[in-house]
Parts: sequence; C-alpha cells; structure tokens
Amino acid sequence: MLNVKEEKKTATSDVSVIAQMLQHNHEQVLFCNDKDTGLKAIIAIHNTTLGPALGGTRMWNYATEAEAFNDVLRLSRGMTYKAAASGLNLGGGKAVIIGDSTKIKNEALLRRFGKFVNSLGGKYITAEDVAMNSKDMEYIHMETKHVTGLPELLGGGGDPSPVTAYGVYLSMKASAKERWGSDSLKGKKVVVQGVGHVGENLVKHLTEEGAKVTITDINQDRVKAIAKQYNTEVTDGDKLFDLDMDVYAPCALGATVNDNALSRLKCTIICGAANNQLADETVHGEIVMKKGILYAPDFVVNAGGLINVYNELHGYNRERAMKQAESIYDTVAKVYQIAKSENIPTYIAANRMAEQRIAAIGKVKLSF
Ligand SMILES: NC(=O)c1ccc[n+]([C@@H]2O[C@H](COP(=O)([O-])OP(=O)(O)OC[C@H]3O[C@@H](n4cnc5c(N)ncnc54)[C@H](O)[C@@H]3O)[C@@H](O)[C@H]2O)c1
Repeated sequence: MLNVKEEKKTATSDVSVIAQMLQHNHEQVLFCNDKDTGLKAIIAIHNTTLGPALGGTRMWNYATEAEAFNDVLRLSRGMTYKAAASGLNLGGGKAVIIGDSTKIKNEALLRRFGKFVNSLGGKYITAEDVAMNSKDMEYIHMETKHVTGLPELLGGGGDPSPVTAYGVYLSMKASAKERWGSDSLKGKKVVVQGVGHVGENLVKHLTEEGAKVTITDINQDRVKAIAKQYNTEVTDGDKLFDLDMDVYAPCALGATVNDNALSRLKCTIICGAANNQLADETVHGEIVMKKGILYAPDFVVNAGGLINVYNELHGYNRERAMKQAESIYDTVAKVYQIAKSENIPTYIAANRMAEQRIAAIGKVKLSF
C-alpha cells in the first residue's frame, strides 16, 4: 500500500483520471453533477471481488476537485482492505459530495444523490460518513435501497458505536494475550483518549473487567461525567503521553501516533478506535515496531462499525452484529501471527492478510 503522502504526490503529478485509477486498480468512478440541486459528487468503487462496494458518503468543502478525487480514491481503497481483513463479503467503495454541508445539504440534493447511487444497481452501497447522519440516509433511501446506516425504525442498525467499542475491547484483549500470555485486562493501566460514543462504551467494558482506566477529552463536561460514572482517573491534553501506562487507546482523532507521541510513549500496546492512527504509516509503523510496542492496526480494530452496517443488508439484528464482531479477536491474533512469522510491522501484516483473502476468494469465484 502507498502511504497518503506518496499518493498525494503521484495524484498531482499525473492529472489523468484513468491513470490515477490505474495506480491502485480502481474498478469504476462515477462523477455526478446536477445543476438544479447544486450536487457535485464522486462515487469510487475500488474492488468488488468479495461483494458489493460498501462505504460511507462524506460531505466536505474540498478546495479543489482534484483533492476530492484523491480523497475518494484513497478512502474507497481503504474500505476494500477493511472489509477483506474483517472477513466480510464486501468490496470497497466510498462517495464524496463536494461542498459545505451547513450550506448546501438539503432533501432535494440528497435524493438526487440517491438516484445516482441507485443507477449503479447495487454495485455500490452507501452509508454515513463525515457530515452525514441517519436522517440524510433516510432521504437517500427514498431513491434507492442501496443504503445502510438507517434509523432503527426503518430497519437500520442505529448507533454503531457499541459494536465498534466491543471490537476495540476484544482487540485489546487479543493484544494482551499476544504480549502478556493472558488476555485479562484486570489491573492493566489503560489511557483512553476521547470519550465520545466509542470511547465511553470502551471505558465501560474496561472498568467492568477491572482495568485501571485514565481518560482525557477536550470536552471537559464529558470527562467529568464519564469519570464519575465509571470511576476513572483523568488526565489533561497531551500530558497523557508521559503517563505510565500499559495500553494507549486513541479514540478521538487520527495521526496521534506521531514523532512527538512516540518520543514519549512508554506503553506496551496501542489499540483504539480512531481511523488512521499512524501519522505516516511507513515511518511510524516501523518506529512502533522498533520500540517493541504492539500496534493493533486501526482498520481491523474498528471494523465493528462496518460489521454493524453489513448486518443491515441481512435484516438487522444487534445480537448477531455483536456476535459477528467477536471475530475481531481472532483477526487481530492472526495479524500478529503474520507480523511475527514474516518479521514485518503489524499494519503491513493486516494489509497482506486482506490482499491474500481477496486473491484466494477471487479464484474460488471463478468456478461455477
Ligand atoms: N462510531 C463508530 O462506530 C466508529 C467506527 C469506526 C471508527 N470510528 C472512529 O473512532 C473515533 C471515535 O468515534 P466516535 O464515534 O466515538 O466519535 P465522537 O465524536 O463521538 O467522539 C470523539 C471524542 O473525542 C473527543 N476529542 C476530539 N479531539 C480530541 C483531542 N484532541 N483530545 C481528546 N479528545 C478529543 C471529542 O470531544 C469527542 O468526545 C473517530 O476517530 C472515528 O472516526 C468510529
């Protein structure tokens, strides 16, 4: 996999659309324009070997169309890897709607977008992403059935965060087993950065198991409430990187595993929900390994959200989604096995595992 920086360089050095698709073998891109509603969107389908391409729609005020195109190519490819590594029968896709959601988002624009999704006949299934919510999915659903992330009343799965948090918790246990020989987190010092939807649910699992949890969040009201409810310690800002801890759980933003953090972190395991935790995969994935820190690859750890929407495709059932999320424990363990046997960083092991599954199942599908 190319890292993001390399991708940006190559994306701008060759403006040809198909040349950029060729770089990572994207199957199809749909450019959508509607003058009446002001809709400008791009839907990218990276790979459908394993199944229909599922991935959220992001609304963002991109500075240029090239930036939007680069983002949708990168994000859709990420979905291929996430689905494949998680053992789901899904391909990778993503959509971006260009514009400021506070200014341009309305029913007509979303329904027009729904028509474009529908025109792909189920090859792409959409979901929520940045600046989109379940109400928006309802509007899209008026024009297409190829949408997930619907409210529970419409057969959707509701808030995916409890399923995501459960997957993070199990990933942490699998990491503990790998490092300490037992998957018990009792007495382990865990620092959770970001106690939002996922972070809070994670704190619940951890405190129930008897871990010594410390939390931090930029929202002080939230910190106070969660600390009181679950009886946790509290830290402030980036002081967390100087704490004595066993596990660092990034559950707020991406790119927190960077030069600054790694020069200070003294943890044994990094395992959290945030996307793109390694500021630069090739650089920080390597440093983490050299420092002897076990990094649980984010896209494997936080796959509970995808597992949740995948379940909507088969008649949603929260119990089944939680059950399916249990597979994340074994997936993480398998990643560590590959990383050890090939002496490679864990993020490369996870990518390799995804690629191998796509290649193997692709061959199975060739036979009748
Ligand atoms: N919700 C899901 O099911 C899901 C699935 C996959 C990945 N993720 C990722 O997990 C992370 C958390 O998701 P969420 O749904 O809980 O989001 P959220 O918005 O509910 O919570 C994020 C929390 O992080 C806090 N925060 C922001 N910046 C911070 C900082 N610098 N330091 C400390 N705290 C900070 C916010 O105040 C908020 O409380 C995100 O990166 C998200 O992309 C979530």
